Amino acid sequence: MERLDKFISNQTGISRADVKKEIRAKRVSVGGIIAKSGDMKIDPETDVVTISGKEITYKRYLYIMMNKPAGYVCSTDDNTAPTVIDLLPDELKRKGLFPAGRLDKDTEGFVLITDDGEFAHDILSPSKHVAKKYLCRLEKKAEKEYENAFKSGITISGGEECKPALIKFTDDENLVYLTIFEGKFHQIKRMFEAVGNRITYLKRLSMGGLFLDENLALGECREILHKEIEKIKS
Ligand code: URA
Repeated sequence: MERLDKFISNQTGISRADVKKEIRAKRVSVGGIIAKSGDMKIDPETDVVTISGKEITYKRYLYIMMNKPAGYVCSTDDNTAPTVIDLLPDELKRKGLFPAGRLDKDTEGFVLITDDGEFAHDILSPSKHVAKKYLCRLEKKAEKEYENAFKSGITISGGEECKPALIKFTDDENLVYLTIFEGKFHQIKRMFEAVGNRITYLKRLSMGGLFLDENLALGECREILHKEIEKIKS
């Protein structure tokens, strides 16, 4: 059982103070009956709660796929730049959401945003080897030697050793796909620096077996469907 005001606030991102106002204005109902007070206890699994006539569909956790644009940081708050959380549309806002893993401010592509800490921890754990595929534009032509250098686990700045990574060349000699199985700080930029090249554009395309939805424009997001969630771990 959960307090009504806490339930509404958690599920919708509306502040507790505003929820109280909605209740006072008689715009909240539980099981078809106007709610009198925010401290009434409800069962999130079975009680039908509406606000201004609209039902709040209960979800224990939310999983969101975002196509991150450059210029946004993967953080819940930041004093210097807007965050990916700022980009969430109202209908996907709720308390406790955070980006599971970080892309650099200038990197685009797939960011997973969730409030499921356990799931995030699981997919970010280096021991889980979740594959992350990136599209990489390079300043200079991609050399064939990169394949072996990355496959055997390259040492990057600071003496850090990377796990084996897979490069795929394309018809454009400055454009490659790189799949890594961990997430060190600035990892891909440092990997290409270690072979004497430089990233000029980076976009994450997938996490595990789940690919960025091509219908999402930069800055857009959508909920990840239940059946897709397990794909991330595969
Ligand atoms: N590697 C990087 O260098 N930057 C990113 O944002 C992601 C992977």
